[in-house]
Amino acid sequence: MAPNNCVNGNYYDISKFFFLMIREIRKDHFDDIDSIIKRYRELTKDDSLPDNFAEQIKDSITENKACVYGEYSEDGFLKGMALFGKASVRINFAYAAGDVEIEKRLVSALFERFKNDYPHITTGGPWISEELSKHFVEIGFSKYDRMHMTLPRSDIEALAEPELSEGMSFEPYTPEIREKISQLVFEGNDGHVDQNVFPDFFGSLEGSTRLLESIEASRFGDYRESSSWILFSNDTPAGACFMTVRDGDTGYIPDIVIKKEFRGRGLGKSLLVQSMKRLAESEPALSKVNLDVTLKNNARYLYASLGFEKVHENSIYSWRKAQ
Ligand SMILES: CC(C)(COP(=O)(O)OP(=O)(O)OC[C@H]1O[C@@H](n2cnc3c(N)ncnc32)[C@H](O)[C@@H]1OP(=O)(O)O)[C@@H](O)C(=O)NCCC(=O)NCCS
Repeated sequence: MAPNNCVNGNYYDISKFFFLMIREIRKDHFDDIDSIIKRYRELTKDDSLPDNFAEQIKDSITENKACVYGEYSEDGFLKGMALFGKASVRINFAYAAGDVEIEKRLVSALFERFKNDYPHITTGGPWISEELSKHFVEIGFSKYDRMHMTLPRSDIEALAEPELSEGMSFEPYTPEIREKISQLVFEGNDGHVDQNVFPDFFGSLEGSTRLLESIEASRFGDYRESSSWILFSNDTPAGACFMTVRDGDTGYIPDIVIKKEFRGRGLGKSLLVQSMKRLAESEPALSKVNLDVTLKNNARYLYASLGFEKVHENSIYSWRKAQ
């Protein structure tokens, strides 16, 4: 829709055009957030949001870590809301009880508000309907299909112990070598498909350091000392496999990387097997190991060759500012 009163022909004016209906939700309207989250849970039956999601949003607004837009009816009823997380640089949620036109307006308004402030913005989640998905692509996001995969404990135990040639060794990851390993993670993903999928983590060395810090801060599952492994070639790190534990019984691999010049010799497979077998030994309750992979990433063949099977597919949407 091109508003008649759009002076510059500039898309940003659209959010001004809607200013009567769309406004930022601040402390004085916190109760409205509860009502939308409640409606979302009731109508979609999606239980993937954390129980305290509404409280998390309110805390983030209070600490200026999130910006939430709401679209109100003339009589002040909140019809839908959309949330932008400043630390994750991500549109985390948008919902208007099935009125996808409102959801489209809200995500567009957030995108227009923040696209000049950040070099990239991502989004994804079960709240994105097919129509909203198309809208993200229309406004400039690229859609990357991903696959959630799993391998049961019995299959991990049945795998042969990895054998390394002379000069190669496995050592547990420790935060003392974070800087070196960040370099390995960044260089290993530079120019690779996942750099587009996760520009915040793989688009820069600082981003890769942030990824490691996030893993250590248990953002991808409970961080366990000594459950992530580094592959060394003499004293040089040649690969890294990070492993966390979710719900007490599920191993989760947020990332694995092999230095470019060491690829194609079975080392990725060895590192993965080492990481999973050692985790199974140290976690008696472990029933499986899960991971997510971009469909366009050939790493999926490595996982399939070990017996990993698809659980479900999902998508990540990523926008990067033109260079
Ligand atoms: C994925 C990665 C870790 C694999 O490391 P690697 O040491 O080259 O992998 P391996 O040599 O151990 O390959 C093991 C198996 O994977 C499969 N495989 C690996 N790369 C493949 C490719 N490009 N195409 C098809 N199959 C491939 C092969 O089936 C191979 O099985 P084989 O032993 O029977 O030949 C490495 O390519 C990498 O660091 N990529 C960038 C980061 C990344 O994408 N990480 C995964 C995030 S989900």
